[in-house]
Amino acid sequence: MKDRIIFFDTTLRDGEQSPGASMNIKEKLLVAEQLESLGVDIIEAGFPISSPGDFESVKSIAKKIKHSSIAGLSRASEKDINACWDAVKCANKPRIHIFLATSDLHIEKKLNKTRPQILDMAVKAVKYAKSFCKDIEFSAEDAGRSDLDFLCKVVEAVIDAGALTVNIPDTVGYTMPAEFGEKIVYIKENVPNINKAVISVHCHNDLGLAVANSLSAIEKGARQIECTINGIGERAGNASLEEIAMAIKVRPHYYNVTHSIKTKEIYKTSRLVSSLTGVAVQVNKAIVGANAFAHESGIHQDGVLKARETYEIMSPEDVGVPESSLVLGKHSGRHAFFNRIKALGYKIDEKTAQDLFEEFKVLADKKKTVFDDDIAAMIEEKTGSTKEYFSLNYQSASSGTATIPTATVRILKKPENAKGKTEIFQEAACGAGPVDATFRAIDKITKMDIKLTSFILKAVSSGVDALGEVTLKAEYKGAIYSGKGISTDIVEASVKAYMQAINKAVNYNVIDKRS
Ligand code: KIV
Ligand code: ZN
Repeated sequence: MKDRIIFFDTTLRDGEQSPGASMNIKEKLLVAEQLESLGVDIIEAGFPISSPGDFESVKSIAKKIKHSSIAGLSRASEKDINACWDAVKCANKPRIHIFLATSDLHIEKKLNKTRPQILDMAVKAVKYAKSFCKDIEFSAEDAGRSDLDFLCKVVEAVIDAGALTVNIPDTVGYTMPAEFGEKIVYIKENVPNINKAVISVHCHNDLGLAVANSLSAIEKGARQIECTINGIGERAGNASLEEIAMAIKVRPHYYNVTHSIKTKEIYKTSRLVSSLTGVAVQVNKAIVGANAFAHESGIHQDGVLKARETYEIMSPEDVGVPESSLVLGKHSGRHAFFNRIKALGYKIDEKTAQDLFEEFKVLADKKKTVFDDDIAAMIEEKTGSTKEYFSLNYQSASSGTATIPTATVRILKKPENAKGKTEIFQEAACGAGPVDATFRAIDKITKMDIKLTSFILKAVSSGVDALGEVTLKAEYKGAIYSGKGISTDIVEASVKAYMQAINKAVNYNVIDKRS
């Protein structure tokens, strides 16, 4: 029988450590549910001791998710392990994931300890965690640069202490694929009790080798892969789940292993993560980039039309890329619209579906044809879960070659408590362009010192009347907030995105700080 690769997804923990990728609890729940639909075996939901918000989101995910295991990260200390267990214990399948550095560099410079102290701490932590939870994973942080014999000693000791999974992270993305594979072989040959545990790997992408290193480890016997959607994560990111899953699917005879990833859910998961984190997917990204299945050269197009396999090693349908088909128009009814939502794989409550239908009608009036991509973008915008303190009531902007761009906005501000009243504000401003002028008018109303740090505008579907999608990031009080907006009018799309980032900042500073 073929060996099975266990997919351990850390989008919600390491992935969320990407600069500016933070998500609120509701957003994390949406991602966790989608990861479960994707068939991920283990969801690392967060690092419970790191903040009350992280603790709460791990706990909510642990309560909600039924099939995937839920892991929480913990340092090798009783305080961390207690918090981690408190957060994951209500999961159907809880896991405590303990990490401790094993490289001399980290041991001496970061932890100010000695190798024997590390060995002792690792064993004590695993034994302590084991008193709560059966499923314990131990990660030897910076294993890629650790002395191999010491690493083997630690691995053997933590397995004896009860760890069922031993993770070998290339924390700083330093190793080369063949070299990393050899480390796995060395561990297998030099840890006497290694067959009592699953060997896992966790590779970072600093040299662009995270996926190559993970695949090399699979060839040599690693059976758990830690990865993230779209490869997001610390610095250059982690190994990308979709690339590893598809490599195994496209080359079954080479790897000779199986996995439970439902590859048709990949594209949707990628979009959801990118939309909620505001981290855009590069266009030429393997598997999920906008150009991953686009054939530009005439020779290639001709080849694909004659026989797809000439230039395609997998089909867009394999990863769930929807055929951008012409589906609905202004005469389409409720039934057709709801069916299309279902066909696209979204599960949406009745009220949201009704609201979306109203929005669809407005869109269909502006735009002759509504594509699947348009519908997906509307759903993602609608199901984003930030409470709206500020909402746009009216906006108009004018610009031209001989006028100074000017904008007027009217914004409603919700009261902070039930007794208060909604306030209405109106302001006008000039700027370098219509978007700039509008943002300046909004800033006059919110009086928040918020600074735009990135702004990306793209068309969601095709045609001059395509929906424009704006993804932006803004900095407020040292933290980055993302926003996304769609509309056939790009100024309106920009305003929606800006308001979403502002509302996230207000949510974080008002709600999260209060709890
Ligand atoms: O990169 C790393 O070493 C980690 C560990 C916590 C597994 O993220
Ligand atoms: Zn990591």
